[in-house]
Amino acid sequence: MTLKFDVMLFWDNHICMGSWTLEERNKLFPKELKFLDFQRHKGELVLDAGCGAGFDTQNMVNAGCNVVAVDFSLESLRVAHRNCGTANCIQCDIENLPFRSRVFDFAISLGVLHHTPNTEKDIEELKRVVKRNGRCIIMFYNRLYLILHRLLGRVGRFELKYDDPGCPLIKFYTITEIRCKYKIQVFRAFGNRIWIPHFGKLIHLPDSLERYFGFGIYAGWQP
Ligand SMILES: C[S@@+](CC[C@H](N)C(=O)[O-])C[C@H]1O[C@@H](n2cnc3c(N)ncnc32)[C@H](O)[C@@H]1O
Repeated sequence: MTLKFDVMLFWDNHICMGSWTLEERNKLFPKELKFLDFQRHKGELVLDAGCGAGFDTQNMVNAGCNVVAVDFSLESLRVAHRNCGTANCIQCDIENLPFRSRVFDFAISLGVLHHTPNTEKDIEELKRVVKRNGRCIIMFYNRLYLILHRLLGRVGRFELKYDDPGCPLIKFYTITEIRCKYKIQVFRAFGNRIWIPHFGKLIHLPDSLERYFGFGIYAGWQP
């Protein structure tokens, strides 16, 4: 079995936020959704690459986009298909997208490419299928958030709980690594909640820190 196959099996058995409602999930990401600005793509052909349970697929359908959602986990895709009305749901690997070149106006891949061994190849595929003047937004886990979270949570005494504990492959990046390795633009980081077990409560980073230390780094390209 390859690592990628193990990752696929993992997502078949752990649908990402599978028991959440769209409202609950969207409440967690207000700034991210503002930045993504799905309404801007109303009427356009858009791709949700690694759709999971299809929350953003639904958001894009609701914004009037023509959505194609792909995921290699059939179980995740079943949930997305049930939730996502008019979206076309296709099982495939982002590394080999079954689409002609330069067809999508907009593509997102949020919380996906840090779980796959060939991230570089995946980004090349996204570059291939997005139109030349199109937009693509990719979210990667931020290594600085992990470090800050561990420091504030007292080193070694606290394990950060992402939504994917047990996933066979999780990679963390710095802004510089993303820029140098993948030659794409970095917009900023989002995600300001830090759990401090010492005080038994959540703190929220100010925006000036969140843009560098936030949970997820938003990168890609846009006109
Ligand atoms: C953390 S979930 C994120 C789901 C969704 N984007 C979201 O934000 O809720 C990661 C998803 O990416 C999918 N995935 C990971 N690597 C993939 C690949 N190479 N091709 C297709 N799907 C992939 C997994 O099956 C899983 O459903």
